[in-house]
Amino acid sequence: MKFTGTLALASAVASAEAAETVLGAYMFHRHGDRTPKSLAPTNLTALGYEQVYTSGQYYRSRYLTGDSKIKGMNQDTVRLTQLAVTAPVDNVLQNSAQGFLQGLYPPYQSAQTLRNGSDVQAPMDGYQLIPINTVDTGAGSEDNGWLQDASSCANAKTSSNAFFSSAEYNDLLNKTTDFYKALVPVVNGTFDEKDVTFKNAYVVYDLINVAEIHNSSIPSSDVLTNDTLYQIRTLADAHEYGLAYNASDNIRAISGMQLAGELLKYMNTTIKSGQDGTSANKFGIQFGAYATFLSFFGLVDLPHANETFYGVPDYASSMVFELFTTADTSNGFPATDDLQVRFLFHNGTTSNASEPAVYPLFGGNDDAISWNKFSSNMNKIAVSTTEQWCTKCGNTTGKCAQYSQDGTDGSANASSSGGGSHMSAAIGGVIGAFVTLAVVLGLLAAFMLLGGFRLAKKGRASTASPVSEVAGSKA
Ligand SMILES: *[C@@H]1O[C@H](CO)[C@@H](O)[C@H](O)[C@H]1NC(C)=O
Ligand SMILES: *[C@@H]1O[C@H](CO)[C@@H](O)[C@H](O)[C@H]1NC(C)=O
Ligand SMILES: *[C@@H]1O[C@H](CO)[C@@H](O)[C@H](O)[C@H]1NC(C)=O
Ligand SMILES: *[C@@H]1O[C@H](CO)[C@@H](O)[C@H](O)[C@H]1NC(C)=O
Ligand SMILES: *[C@@H]1O[C@H](CO)[C@@H](O)[C@H](O)[C@H]1NC(C)=O
Ligand SMILES: *[C@@H]1O[C@H](CO)[C@@H](O)[C@H](O)[C@H]1NC(C)=O
Ligand SMILES: *[C@@H]1O[C@H](CO)[C@@H](O)[C@H](O)[C@H]1NC(C)=O
Ligand SMILES: *[C@@H]1O[C@H](CO)[C@@H](O)[C@H](O)[C@H]1NC(C)=O
Ligand SMILES: *[C@@H]1O[C@H](CO)[C@@H](O)[C@H](O)[C@H]1NC(C)=O
Ligand SMILES: *[C@@H]1O[C@H](CO)[C@@H](O)[C@H](O)[C@H]1NC(C)=O
Ligand SMILES: *[C@@H]1O[C@H](CO)[C@@H](O)[C@H](O)[C@H]1NC(C)=O
Ligand SMILES: *[C@@H]1O[C@H](CO)[C@@H](O)[C@H](O)[C@H]1NC(C)=O
Repeated sequence: MKFTGTLALASAVASAEAAETVLGAYMFHRHGDRTPKSLAPTNLTALGYEQVYTSGQYYRSRYLTGDSKIKGMNQDTVRLTQLAVTAPVDNVLQNSAQGFLQGLYPPYQSAQTLRNGSDVQAPMDGYQLIPINTVDTGAGSEDNGWLQDASSCANAKTSSNAFFSSAEYNDLLNKTTDFYKALVPVVNGTFDEKDVTFKNAYVVYDLINVAEIHNSSIPSSDVLTNDTLYQIRTLADAHEYGLAYNASDNIRAISGMQLAGELLKYMNTTIKSGQDGTSANKFGIQFGAYATFLSFFGLVDLPHANETFYGVPDYASSMVFELFTTADTSNGFPATDDLQVRFLFHNGTTSNASEPAVYPLFGGNDDAISWNKFSSNMNKIAVSTTEQWCTKCGNTTGKCAQYSQDGTDGSANASSSGGGSHMSAAIGGVIGAFVTLAVVLGLLAAFMLLGGFRLAKKGRASTASPVSEVAGSKA
C-alpha cells in the first residue's frame, strides 16, 4: 500500500511506452483564481485565466498531440462532435471553461476562397468557436458561500444542514472560538464580528486566501502567520468536507452522484461511437465547483488512497478518467472486455512541469480497472436520470411531480422552484449556513423580492447575480 504513490508515478511514465491506446477521456475541472465569494459578483481574475489556459495547453499536449493522444481526435481544428464541454450557469465557471478551450484548441488560421475569388480570413487569427453547454447542477456556485446552495436537492440540503448538529462540528466550533476571534480585525471590513466563527470557516478562509494572493496590504496581517494560515485552510477543509460527504448519509454527496452519472453517460457514448465508427464523443470536459470534487472524492473513497483528498482542491485542479486499451486497435474498436479506465488527479494548475498522478478508485490498489468493473461500481453511486434524482432527493413538485406517488402535492412550489433554488445561495455566502432550512428559506423570501425586482430593471440574463449584489452591497 505504501508503494501506491510510487507505482502511480511509475505507471504514468510507463504509459508513454506501453502498447496502449487512449480512446476517450472525461474531465472535471475547477475554475482558476477568482475574487472572493463574500464580495459577489465573483469574477475570474487575470491570474485565473492564465491558470486555466495553461491547463488547456497541457491537456492539448497530452490528448491531442502527445503519446497519450486520444485515437482519432482532431489535432488542430476542432471537430465539435468529438468534444462536449459543459459548465453550470456561473460566470467564473463559464469563463474558466472558455479560457481552458483557448489553450486546448488555439487559433488556427485557414483561409477560405469564395466563389467570386476573394479570400476570407477568420477574425482573431482563426480563434476557434466552441460552445459551452450548461448543466443543471451548480448554478451560481461561485457566488454562493454555502455548499448546497448550488443544488436544489431537498434531501441533500437537509443532510448538509445536519452537519451543523453533528458532534464533530460542535466540537470544532467550541474549540476554535478564540482562534477565529483573533482573526476579526483582519476581516471585519467584510464580516460582522459575530459571523467570524467556524460556522463560516470557508468564506472566512476564502476572503483571506484571496487577500493573500492579491491585496498589497491586509489589515492586522501580523496575525496571519504561516501556522495560522494553515489552520484557517484546514479548518475550512474540515467544514466543507463535512458538508459535502458523510459515509452514513450518502445523499449529502448528490453533486458527486450526478457527476458519476454524467461521466458514465458520456463514456457510454464514447464506446458506442467507437463501435459505430462515427469518431464522435471522445473528450468530455466539465467545469464545476470544489464541492463536487469533495462529494465525489468521498463517494469513490479517494481519501483511502491519500489523505490529501479530505482537502479542498486548489484553483484550476483537474481530475480525468481515461478510457484506454492495450489490445490491438488496428482492426477497429476493441471489445468491451478489453477496455480499461484509469483515474488521474492534479491539485492546482496542471502543466508540463507538474503533471497529474494516477490514484486507485473505490478503495482498491490498482492504477487501472476494467471498464466493466468501473462502470458497475460507478453505477452504484451514479444518479443518471431525473427519476432517480427526484426519488433520492425526495422532491415531488415541478419536474419531479410526475414521479411522485401521491399526486396531492400543491403546485405552488412548482412555480417558485425555477429561480428560487439558487436564490438561497447568495446570502449563504454572507451569513453562512443555517442549521434549519426553514430559516434560510424565510430570509430568502425577503431577498428574493428585492433580487427579482433588480433583475427586471436591469434585464440581466442571470438570476443569480442580483441577489448577490444585495448581499455584496451589505458587505
Ligand atoms: C499524498 O499526497 C501528497 C501530496 O501529493 C504526497 O506528498 C504524499 O506523499 C502522498 N501520500 C501517500 C501516502 O501517497
Ligand atoms: C466583478 O466584476 C464586476 C464588473 O464586471 C464588478 O462590478 C465587481 O465589483 C467585481 N467583483 C469584485 C469582487 O471585484
Ligand atoms: C465576394 O463576395 C463576398 C461575400 O459575398 C463580398 O463580401 C466581396 O465583396 C466579394 N468580392 C468581390 C471582389 O466582389
Ligand atoms: C453523518 O451522518 C450520521 C447519520 O445520519 C450522523 O449521525 C452524523 O452526525 C453525521 N456526521 C456528520 C459529520 O455530519
Ligand atoms: C459547545 O458549547 C455549547 C455552549 O457554549 C454547548 O451547549 C455545547 O454542548 C458544546 N458542544 C460540545 C461538543 O462541546
Ligand atoms: C476592525 O477592527 C479593528 C481593530 O479592532 C478596528 O480598529 C476597526 O475599526 C474595525 N473595522 C471595522 C470596519 O469595524
Ligand atoms: C482585500 O481587498 C479588497 C478590495 O480592496 C477588500 O474589499 C478586502 O476587504 C481586502 N481583504 C483583506 C482581508 O484585506
Ligand atoms: C511562510 O511561508 C512562506 C511561503 O511558503 C515562506 O516563504 C516563509 O519563509 C514562511 N515564513 C516563516 C516565518 O516560516
Ligand atoms: C451505459 O450503457 C450500459 C449498457 O449499454 C447501460 O446498462 C447503462 O445503463 C448505461 N449507463 C448510463 C449512465 O447511460
Ligand atoms: C490540494 O492542496 C492543498 C494545499 O495547497 C491541500 O490543502 C489540499 O488538501 C489538496 N487537495 C487535494 C484534493 O489534493
Ligand atoms: C509540453 O511538453 C510537450 C511534449 O513533451 C511539448 O510538445 C509541449 O510544447 C510542451 N508544452 C509547453 C507549454 O511547454
Ligand atoms: C426540490 O425541493 C426543494 C425543497 O422543497 C426546493 O427548494 C427545490 O427547488 C426543489 N427542486 C426541484 C428541481 O424541484
